[in-house]
Amino acid sequence: MRPLRTGQRKHHGVSLGFLALSLTTACCLQSQGVSLYIPQSTINATVKEDILLSVEYSCHGVPTIEWKYTSNWGVQKIVEWKPGAQANISQSHKDRVGTFDNGSIQLFSVGVRDSGYYVVTVTEHLGSSQFGTIVLHVSEILYEDLHFVAVFLALLAAVAAVLISLMWVCNKCAYKFQRKRRHKLKENTAEEIELQDVEC
Ligand SMILES: *[C@@H]1O[C@H](CO)[C@@H](O)[C@H](O)[C@H]1NC(C)=O
Ligand SMILES: *[C@@H]1O[C@H](CO)[C@@H](O)[C@H](O)[C@H]1NC(C)=O
Ligand SMILES: *[C@@H]1O[C@H](CO)[C@@H](O)[C@H](O)[C@H]1NC(C)=O
Repeated sequence: MRPLRTGQRKHHGVSLGFLALSLTTACCLQSQGVSLYIPQSTINATVKEDILLSVEYSCHGVPTIEWKYTSNWGVQKIVEWKPGAQANISQSHKDRVGTFDNGSIQLFSVGVRDSGYYVVTVTEHLGSSQFGTIVLHVSEILYEDLHFVAVFLALLAAVAAVLISLMWVCNKCAYKFQRKRRHKLKENTAEEIELQDVEC
């Protein structure tokens, strides 16, 4: 009987330990309540495009979402809102920003000066928060345009090459023709001279 009892006690100890461990894990998970998912952290865009800075969060209750813009010239607040309520958009981005309940924002008709770092912070009402960054590159020239220019230049080069070889061939022909004519002329004059000789 004795060995069995100690065995049971040991088992109890292990269960209690496991329970305590589970509780601490649960507490830890709860304290970092906000999680943020950013599917694309670098975005390449061209001038005049509408850009979606896409994120998704999960947390307890309704959080506060804030977007800031950081560039070489400093940090600027873009927008702050609680999903379901009106967004507070800064003067610098009035009429240029749309907000979504999942925390994403859309920038309308971006310019080169919109390039930079966009930092989103999701703050739970309990105080815990999480932030993420999206880098936006806005370039002036459309890549399709560049492609078109390259194709156009290649076409021009091909046409030029064909023209040059045609000119070369023509030149050769003309030269040969001229030589033939000169030869013929010489023969003719020779004949004429002969004829004149005969007449004389
Ligand atoms: C954006 O452009 C850079 C070069 O300017 C390139 O290295 C990067 O892969 C591009 N990213 C995407 C998502 O197209
Ligand atoms: C957030 O919502 C917008 C609009 O409904 C959607 O286009 C976007 O894909 C969402 N983002 C994520 C990461 O699910
Ligand atoms: C909007 O933001 C500005 C500056 O961040 C602040 O002064 C103002 O009180 C905010 N308005 C609302 C309705 O939250």
